Amino acid sequence: MTDRYAVIGNPIAHSRSPEIHAAFARQTGQDMCYERILSPLDGFAAAVDSFRAAGGRGMNVTLPFKLEAFAYSPRRTPRAEAAGAVNTLRFDDGSVLGDNTDGAGLAHDLTRNLGLRLSGARILLLGAGGAAQGVVLPLLEHRPACLVVANRTRDKAAAIASMFRDNGPVSGCGLAELTGRRFDVVVNATSAAIGGAAPEFCPDIFADGAFAYEMMYGKGETPFLSLARGAGAGGWADGLGMLVEQAAESFLLWRGVRPDTGPVLAMLRQA
Ligand code: ATR
Repeated sequence: MTDRYAVIGNPIAHSRSPEIHAAFARQTGQDMCYERILSPLDGFAAAVDSFRAAGGRGMNVTLPFKLEAFAYSPRRTPRAEAAGAVNTLRFDDGSVLGDNTDGAGLAHDLTRNLGLRLSGARILLLGAGGAAQGVVLPLLEHRPACLVVANRTRDKAAAIASMFRDNGPVSGCGLAELTGRRFDVVVNATSAAIGGAAPEFCPDIFADGAFAYEMMYGKGETPFLSLARGAGAGGWADGLGMLVEQAAESFLLWRGVRPDTGPVLAMLRQA
């Protein structure tokens, strides 16, 4: 019987995950199908329960349910614990494993697809919500010279930094405190692009040849990327590569085989 997987969220119609997993399944010859599930905002656990009862083997979880998926998972991987959120559920006989593949997805996109060297780099992470917290540990694992978490609300950045202080050279600050500092890689993990804005910081923070990364995708050149380009950043990308890479990590967890992400990313970019 074909194994069933799904992505669950609200809204969900825009999700590109079904295309990505269908391409992975074709490429690796896995007998599986993958669908979209729109969950009511107050009905996440019930929607997951019913997918499991119908024989579902695993799910990707997207906004706004990653914290609920964390609570839903009796067993969690260390990276899900560190992220404080779950984006991947695997249903084994009667039990549920929660994982978080977002951070590994970002790190893979930056290093493998975009060819950046994170080791020794000065990295700035803008934002201190769930998206930012989920990527701190995988970035620190690459041994940057420093990782600064900067947020409009300073205290949230300081809280994230203190959570990870035993894992590497991480610090937290407000956006205004960035003035006078320079970074090699700047990752925008804020949701500012949704409102058509960029976080307000001094554009001098981009070192010569710096790379600007917008974690969101499908929004074209966002205000943050325009600002980075105008400030002399040497390269920039949106989060489509991160989406494909986090999907590949989920696929590996479910199927035990890692798909080749290059052709799938190229296909999505073309579409
Ligand atoms: P997510 O789970 O996607 O990270 P979130 O938890 O709501 O979403 O966090 C959104 C992040 O984007 C926060 O860091 C928020 O800053 P505040 O903590 O000060 O609210 C940041 N953010 C959203 N809009 C922003 C804007 N226009 N400028 C700067 N930061 C912004």
